[in-house]
Parts: sequence; C-alpha cells; structure tokens
Amino acid sequence: MTQRTVYVNGDYVAEQDAKVSVFDRGFLLADGVYEVSSVLDGKLIDFPGHMQRLKRSAGALEMALPWDEAALLTIHRELIRRNALEEGMVYLQLTRGSAGDRDFDYPGADTTPTLVLFTQAKALVYSRSGSKGIRVATQPDWRWARRDIKTVQLLYPAMAKMAAKAAGADDSWLVESGLVTEGASNNAWMLTQEGVLVTRELSHSILPGITRAVVLKIAESLSLRVEERAFSVVEAQSAKECFVTSASSFVTPVIAIDDVKIGDGYPGEVSRQLREAYIVESRRRVI
Ligand code: PDD
Repeated sequence: MTQRTVYVNGDYVAEQDAKVSVFDRGFLLADGVYEVSSVLDGKLIDFPGHMQRLKRSAGALEMALPWDEAALLTIHRELIRRNALEEGMVYLQLTRGSAGDRDFDYPGADTTPTLVLFTQAKALVYSRSGSKGIRVATQPDWRWARRDIKTVQLLYPAMAKMAAKAAGADDSWLVESGLVTEGASNNAWMLTQEGVLVTRELSHSILPGITRAVVLKIAESLSLRVEERAFSVVEAQSAKECFVTSASSFVTPVIAIDDVKIGDGYPGEVSRQLREAYIVESRRRVI
C-alpha cells in the first residue's frame, strides 16, 4: 500500500510521522468522537449529515469543536486530493486532547482538542458483500446506554464482530431484551412478508445513521410502507428480506441470521433496489 498523507492538528503529514500524545484522552479514556464519510468518484457522500452528527456528538459530551463545516470540508477535500482517493472513506476523529497527565476530570477550556483525519481506499459500489449479501450472528448488546453518540469506545462492537466471525458469520447484530438494536457498525432493517420496511426508531439505544435517514427518504419516494419500530430476532428471521445500512456498506443484504436463511437465502429484490437507488442518489448529491 502506498504511504498515506494524514491530517493531524493542522498539518498534513506522512502516516509514519503522524503523532499524538500518550496523554491524549482519546487514547487513555476513549474520550473522543468520530465520523466516517464515504467518497465516490473523489467526492463526499452525505457530508453535511455527517458533520451535523459530529457537532451533535461533541455537544452531548461538552467537547469543543473549533472548526465549522466549511473548514472541515476543506480538510476532507485536501486529504482526498493528496491521497488521490477515488472510492473509500475519510475517517475523522476528534478527542478532548491532552492535559499532560491522566485525570478523569475534563481538562480546562484552554486544552486544545485533537483532530485527526485519514483516508481508507475501499471498493464501495462493486463489493462482494453488496452483491452477495452477508450472514450475521446475534450477540447481546452490552454497549453503554448512549449509543446515539458516535464515540470511539468500540471495544464491544469489535468483540461482537469477532464472536460473529467465530460463529462463521460476517458481522454481528446486537440484541437487547429480545429486540435487535442495530448491527455492530450499521443500522438493521427488515422487510416483512407483508412488504413493510421496518427499522428501529431513533433513541439513545442506537446511532442515528446518516445512511438510514437517506434510505428512509428513498423508501418514501418509492412509496414503500415504512415503520420505525423495534423488531425481534425471530421476526427478522421470518422476514422476506433483511439488510444493513452504513456509510461504508451503503445498503448490504443480510442473507442469514444465526444460520437461519432469510427468504430463499439470496439478496432480496427490495434490498437490491434500495442499494441501487442509494448509489444513484448519492452520486447526484456528492460534494
Ligand atoms: N459505523 N450504527 C453503528 C453502531 C455504527 O457504528 C454505524 C456507522 C451506523 C451507521 O451510520 P452511518 O449510516 O451514518 O454510517 C449505525 C461506521 C461506518 C464505522 O464505525 O465505521
């Protein structure tokens, strides 16, 4: 892999020269928030939505975000340009910075936040999982209670994904009180046998996915019946179709849950249609 240029606190540097303090609260306390914005044809998808959510996440944690959307857009674009990124993602992480020691208390307002961005090349439109679908395995949702804030505390989602892989699946769906909350790094959907598209309603229990919001609008424009409500694993296993949404997977069909085939075990027609429509709509709105 060719060496990337990454952004660290105002500088564009070669990845091996990028450094953050060992006292950074992101490193010591997972005191940080992040965003992943996708890039198609060298341009950004759903950028305003991702930056709005970043602002919301930082605000919920009383974390300073001394860059406005225009400044963040400039950094994203410069990084895409310097890395000649055509398709993939830009990862952004903001932490509360370093007060020069380890301390639970938030440091004073004079502490400079840490802002890091880097690019990740990835085939998004023509991906194996996008066309063939993925198998998911369920795990209990043992994350904290404010999953609506996009923090960098991702140890449990990483554990859940590893457990799913150990069970022979590709990814994990998280379950609380018998109900699916969301995927370990995506929002979960099903299409009932009656043709109703269902995804969990927004609350502190799930991340308000930017892709989820766009797909809801597309579903409306296609006159699909939509319900925002929780559903159980059993209900999803007997659904006509299931899929997940995220910036890095767009709309990806789910073909099995805990080894139970969904429908005939192949990506469903509505999932395929929504994936295509999402790509068309994204290409139309890239910036
Ligand atoms: N994950 N739910 C969770 C727990 C997520 O981590 C993500 C995104 C989503 C989907 O959100 P969006 O549509 O805005 O990407 C839902 C990113 C891609 C990640 O952690 O890499």
